[in-house]
Amino acid sequence: MQRKIFFYIVSVLLIGVIICGALSARMLEINYSDDIKNNLVSNMKLTKEFIGEAMLADPVLLDQYLNEIRTVTNARITVIDASGKVLADTESNAADMDNHLNRQEVKEAIEAGLGLSKRYSDTLKVNFQYAAIPIHKDGTLVGILRLSKPLYEIQKMTQRMYLNVLIAVLAGALIASFLGYKISENITMPIKEITYTATRIARGQLDKRINLKTDDEIAILADAINHMASTLSESIGSLQDKNAKLEAFMSSVVNGIIAIDSNERILFINPIAARMLNIQEKDVTGKHFLQAVRNNQIDNYLKEIIKQNRFFDVEIVLDYPAEKILKLYTNPIKYVDRGDLAGIIITIQDITELRKLERMRTEFVANVSHELKTPLTSIKGFVETLKSGALEDKEDSLRFLNIIEDEAERLYRLISDILSLSELEHRKHRGVPERIDVRHTVQEVISILKSQADKKGIQLETDLQESIDSLYGDPDRFKQMLINLVDNAVKYTPDRGKVNVEAYQHVNETTGEKRIIIDVIDNGIGIAKEHVPRLFERFYRIDKARSRRVGGTGLGLAIVKHIVLSFDGEIEVESEVGKGTRFTVSIPIEMHSS
Ligand SMILES: Nc1ncnc2c1ncn2[C@@H]1O[C@H](COP(=O)(O)OP(=O)(O)OP(=O)(O)O)[C@@H](O)[C@H]1O
Ligand SMILES: [Mg+2]
Repeated sequence: MQRKIFFYIVSVLLIGVIICGALSARMLEINYSDDIKNNLVSNMKLTKEFIGEAMLADPVLLDQYLNEIRTVTNARITVIDASGKVLADTESNAADMDNHLNRQEVKEAIEAGLGLSKRYSDTLKVNFQYAAIPIHKDGTLVGILRLSKPLYEIQKMTQRMYLNVLIAVLAGALIASFLGYKISENITMPIKEITYTATRIARGQLDKRINLKTDDEIAILADAINHMASTLSESIGSLQDKNAKLEAFMSSVVNGIIAIDSNERILFINPIAARMLNIQEKDVTGKHFLQAVRNNQIDNYLKEIIKQNRFFDVEIVLDYPAEKILKLYTNPIKYVDRGDLAGIIITIQDITELRKLERMRTEFVANVSHELKTPLTSIKGFVETLKSGALEDKEDSLRFLNIIEDEAERLYRLISDILSLSELEHRKHRGVPERIDVRHTVQEVISILKSQADKKGIQLETDLQESIDSLYGDPDRFKQMLINLVDNAVKYTPDRGKVNVEAYQHVNETTGEKRIIIDVIDNGIGIAKEHVPRLFERFYRIDKARSRRVGGTGLGLAIVKHIVLSFDGEIEVESEVGKGTRFTVSIPIEMHSS
């Protein structure tokens, strides 16, 4: 652009200079030649006054006279008679000259009284201005007087003038170039500055502003661009702010959220959704849903929704990597102006736990009813037997009453187990934490279960660290936990087996955390690996018949687990079928000691 402007300015200036120069040169030339012409004519008219007819007849006198006038007029003088013969000439020999009647100025002079002509003289190799007038005597033409002047001067002068014009053009070109450069720079500088800054703004450097020192139209443009950048910066800032808030919100919601367009391309996905759908890739925005999620079930559901334009919820079961039940809710995204479907918002809720809990609850109710029914049926049966005559036999009555007592006892235990479980589940605290002497409690539990162990000839032993810090919490619960564990160990260990309870304190070297570790070890029947994960579920028994025989309902370990959790502790199982089992309870001390 600068080059164009420069070129235009220089051209215009040069054309101006050239036209002016040429015009003035030409004007001067015309003026000068007019001067010469006029001078020649007036000199000629004067000369004519002095030339008489006598003089025409006397060539010698004429020559002499003409030569005298020549010095004054500084022009060549020629006298021609009426027939065209040259009578005298100040520059050449008249006798040698040809007939001059057909010279243009001569012809014009005879016809009009004054002839003028400008010609190139072959003899003198220069332009000549000729002027001629007729000489009359008594009304008849007797001769013609002609004056002429070489146009040396004028030629020289025009040459000089053209040279000057050339110099002027060169100087003009120089000035024009300089001015052109300055002017074009002045015009394009702000535009360059605007272009430079606007490019930067377009690249995202929204703090850049155009700084012009002018106040013309370009400055108005610059102001407009600056204003646009400020507005843009503000809008982008507020958009970024909104985006950040939205992102924070989307990441903090517990549900998965995915937005797809009507072609099933992912517009947005929050981290929870990616986790729920096992998406490994970092960024799947822009990808087709099926490509990112690889689940035909969901894909078909989305296609159906788009096809029907009807929004309904669905439950999807994922099998891999673990069983997961997801509930998908969908809502349409509509174009504000047209109202047709722009995309879909899918909200995903992981209902695996919910379903599991529901299942557990139903199972629990079924189990409870079943467990309650068994002893009750048995009690009812024996009562009826007694009523229908068995009372007569004292021995039988006693036997039956004992069974009824056992069953009632079983019912009682079952109901109190269920009650303590529900209490534990609702995390009800029974009053203020009390000091618990671990060593003492273990010994108590051993004495409670001693007779049961003795019946089976089981060696029930303890290995307790000398000084163990006290725990704080509910002593009854702590005791219950130990009873359940040791009871199991005795129950599921064949006669003449061995059960050992160890308790000691452990300090974690890196964290400095103190824990009490209690191990209940038996060399009994052991537990197969596949049962371990479900061991702490309510009513879970490995061998139902066996447990029932030994009076187990499958609530013991569920209670243990809850008590351990109420102490912020952990429980682990190590077991080998046929070799024995070790239950390890670990409870942090700090939490409960004061
Ligand atoms: N020390 C153990 N050795 C082998 N199996 C065990 C041991 N402890 C528990 N089990 C198995 O775990 C199951 C669940 O134990 P849990 O204590 O919850 O129930 P239970 O002993 O059958 O009944 P409850 O304790 O309610 O009277 C038991 O049925 C048993 O099969
Ligand atoms: Mg038990």
